Amino acid sequence: LVRSLSTSASRQAAIKHVTVIGGGLMGTGITQVAAQSGHNVTMCDVSDDIVQKGLARIQDSLKRVVKKKYKDDPTAGQKFFDSTMENIRIDTNVERVAASTDLVIEAIIENLDIKQKLFSSLDKVAPQHTIFASNTSSLPIKDIASTCERQDRFGGLHFFNPVPVMKLVEVVRFGATSNETFQSLTDFGQAVGKTTVSCKDTPGFIVNRLLVPYMMEAVRMLERGDASAKDIDVAMKLGAGYPMGPFELTDYVGIDTCKFIMDGWHELDPDQPLFKPSELVNKLVAEGKLGMKSGEGFYSYK
Ligand code: CAA
Ligand code: NAD
Repeated sequence: LVRSLSTSASRQAAIKHVTVIGGGLMGTGITQVAAQSGHNVTMCDVSDDIVQKGLARIQDSLKRVVKKKYKDDPTAGQKFFDSTMENIRIDTNVERVAASTDLVIEAIIENLDIKQKLFSSLDKVAPQHTIFASNTSSLPIKDIASTCERQDRFGGLHFFNPVPVMKLVEVVRFGATSNETFQSLTDFGQAVGKTTVSCKDTPGFIVNRLLVPYMMEAVRMLERGDASAKDIDVAMKLGAGYPMGPFELTDYVGIDTCKFIMDGWHELDPDQPLFKPSELVNKLVAEGKLGMKSGEGFYSYK
């Protein structure tokens, strides 16, 4: 027991500085929960304007957390707010930041080529011990890692939107991920306050493999004219206890994101009826109706 405690303590002590790449929806959330739990975090994106906007989004979200957690003690709440923000740095030069970091979490655009290029350049500058992780929703971790030498120090850390609220992290390992890396990623997920589950590198891991086909089945139900979007949403909320109906959730995640995921899986497995493209989804994306983020999707948010 003594040995296992000290091993786990040294593993946790190992991840002090975290680099989050991507200051969008997910990157800001991951930065926030890592900083809230006492890690030093540097959030990187391609422009100063984007990182500044990301920082403002973190402040807004952190205020909501403080309001809830410290409603009876505003002084302690302000202290928590200040110390969390002090743990966050922003930068636009990922290579400089990665040269002295323990863990890189990538949360950039869902594009294999771009993710591979990023990791390949970081692999050359990051210290030997640094672990690389991707927050990809649907791409194989093995493919993202393929341009790196450090295959054993590579895995998946899949967070959920909104990150400060959702309690799960999927920890993903592929064939080359070492036991130490997998354990460090699991320890880190728990250190940021999440429950972790262990996943293999299969399409969609656990949650998205079940959730995205379910969302697309709801679209197919609508396309067949079986029920309205509103009625399907009400039915799943009140009849199955989901916090959002499938159309609300698709709008929340982004219709383009869901389309991207399904198109990729359809290419991998064209005979799987659950992965079939949907005309309605294609039409909405072509019209720029991407859900909440664009002001309109299945519902209007204007
Ligand atoms: N930051 C901080 N706190 C937040 C927040 C944020 N971004 N968003 C919500 N909250 C907090 C609120 O402050 C609120 O706190 P109180 O309970 O103290 O009031 C609480 O969360 C609930 O928020 P709201 O009252 O605004 O709204 P709600 O009760 O409808 O909950 C929700 C919102 C948590 C998003 C809920 O609707 C929900 O769980 N929806 C499903 C989300 C989901 O399934 N996500 C997974 C998507 S799939 C994915 O992420 C994977 C992928 O790869 C695509
Ligand atoms: P987003 O579009 O909100 O943010 C992506 C950010 O990455 C942008 O700010 C962009 O400027 C930046 N970026 C792009 N290329 C970059 C590069 N080379 N270097 C640095 N920054 C770069 O996207 P998001 O929703 O935060 O998704 C990010 C990742 O997380 C994707 O892989 C996505 O599949 C995954 N994911 C998304 C969700 C979700 O619900 N949206 C949930 C879980 C996982």
